Amino acid sequence: MIPFIHESAASAREIYARSWAFITLNKILVIFLIMKVLAFNASPRKEKGVSEIIMNLFLEGAAEGGAEIESHHIVDLDIKGCLGCFSCWTKTPGRCVHRDDMDWIIPKFLDADIIYLGTPIYNYNIIHYLQRMTERMLPTALPYMEESEGTTRHPERHERKVQQMVLAAVAGFPDTENFNQAKALFPNAINIFLPSAQILQDSEGSKYVSYFTDAVKEAGRQMASQGEVDEAVKNKLVVNFSPEMKKRIREQANKFFKARVQGT
Ligand SMILES: Cc1cc2nc3c(=O)[nH]c(=O)nc-3n(C[C@H](O)[C@H](O)[C@H](O)COP(=O)(O)O)c2cc1C
Repeated sequence: MIPFIHESAASAREIYARSWAFITLNKILVIFLIMKVLAFNASPRKEKGVSEIIMNLFLEGAAEGGAEIESHHIVDLDIKGCLGCFSCWTKTPGRCVHRDDMDWIIPKFLDADIIYLGTPIYNYNIIHYLQRMTERMLPTALPYMEESEGTTRHPERHERKVQQMVLAAVAGFPDTENFNQAKALFPNAINIFLPSAQILQDSEGSKYVSYFTDAVKEAGRQMASQGEVDEAVKNKLVVNFSPEMKKRIREQANKFFKARVQGT
């Protein structure tokens, strides 16, 4: 309860000071409620790839839902490979020996409410650029081992806010099984999976998956405004093609490449 509401005789100066305090309090509350979305697109094709289309849809929705959004192309960042020296656990707890963009990524990562990771599937897994970034999160863990839900984990070094993670992966093959390893790496993430992702770069094909693109944007909006995604929307975020559609996709892909392969 705000006490000054119940006071009657207050000077103009006091009223001004109290109004200012009230406005500031409201501002703080609004700032407190604004979700921070930190997004990374790991595709080396950047703006030319499908990962970018999907990330932009999600971020558009999140911005509409009132979130503060920030996105980066991982290939543009200076992220050196983990040396496995464990200095971040022993010699300089919480600090890596490398000085690169992870110096600002880690604090931002810990401060975000929603982490969006966009990756193409390469060799049935997440792309190595994303893998390298996640390996470099080691300083955020403590070296000790603890049991958690039947498996062994490292405890967090920092007190973490309640964070949500989105894993958005795209693949060239039409089979949803291509996402199995990526899914296993981020078991708590909300999944956005599009097989035969090239379909989005085709005007006719993109109409076929318009329910998916609409759902991606809506997922961003819902996460930003209500902190979670409805089941009905979630169910549209993973595309499963029918066997007939897969056959058509294979035939079209083969036709496409046959026309472009040179020297044959
Ligand atoms: C080296 C390499 C490996 C790939 N491996 C797979 C794969 O295992 N499974 C699959 O379905 N697609 C695979 N793809 C296809 C990409 O996932 C697909 O082209 C995707 O759309 C790329 O994402 P982007 O458009 O955001 O760059 C591979 C592509 C490359 C270049």
